[in-house]
Amino acid sequence: MRQKFVAGNWKMHKDKSETIELISSLKNKLSNFSVITEVAICPPFTSLELASELIKNSTLKLGAQNVHSEPEGAYTGEISAKMLKSFGVEYVIIGHSERRTYFNESNEFINKKIKRAIEFDLRPIFCVGETLNEREAGKTFSVVEEQLILGLQGISESDLLKIVIAYEPVWAIGTGKTATPLQAQEVHFFIREKIKSIYDTKSSEKIKILYGGSVKPENARDLFLQPDIDGGLIGGACLNPDSFFKIILSAE
Ligand code: PGA
Repeated sequence: MRQKFVAGNWKMHKDKSETIELISSLKNKLSNFSVITEVAICPPFTSLELASELIKNSTLKLGAQNVHSEPEGAYTGEISAKMLKSFGVEYVIIGHSERRTYFNESNEFINKKIKRAIEFDLRPIFCVGETLNEREAGKTFSVVEEQLILGLQGISESDLLKIVIAYEPVWAIGTGKTATPLQAQEVHFFIREKIKSIYDTKSSEKIKILYGGSVKPENARDLFLQPDIDGGLIGGACLNPDSFFKIILSAE
């Protein structure tokens, strides 16, 4: 049995006072329940230090939204894995479609980031997913396969399970269009089979695969009930503590 995992990707939202408000409200809601689901929040870099203070004495885990591939150096504006680690960050989102699209991140660069994150004991939330054009051209599986193979290149079997995979169809992100539970399950199953062929059965059964793309309280439960969906990477709906909390409960 894989433990469910729900992570909130705040993207470029929430300043200092809004960070305090959102985390306090979420902690308050969670304090009345003993949830089994693992829950992580991924605020922007500017809120990481504050968030790491605020989540002390709670079960919430901390994630970042990006990391650079180099350990340190002259990379103006970038943040290293070591820096993140020093703020109590446990997870880091790598390969999100917004970074692939707006910042031209390639599969090779993403692979380097994943390796660097693991080297510094961070757990990558590795995102894959096809665009609408790719889906309509019947390329969903080949695109996801390529992202997986190149993204995981050179990663050992023992390091693989430090990674959580997130399947996020690009056409479902922030659009209000969710993949149906069956559409998502089909790709999740494919990803698990791929992991089996690249690694082995045991790894494929253990690795967590999250679904992301317009997950809301209304559709979360049906998605999370699918056999190969182990939780969600939540964007828009995690900015509202009520919605995020309802999504967490749907994973229980
Ligand atoms: P969304 O974003 O829930 O707003 O669609 C998901 C994501 O980008 O991780």
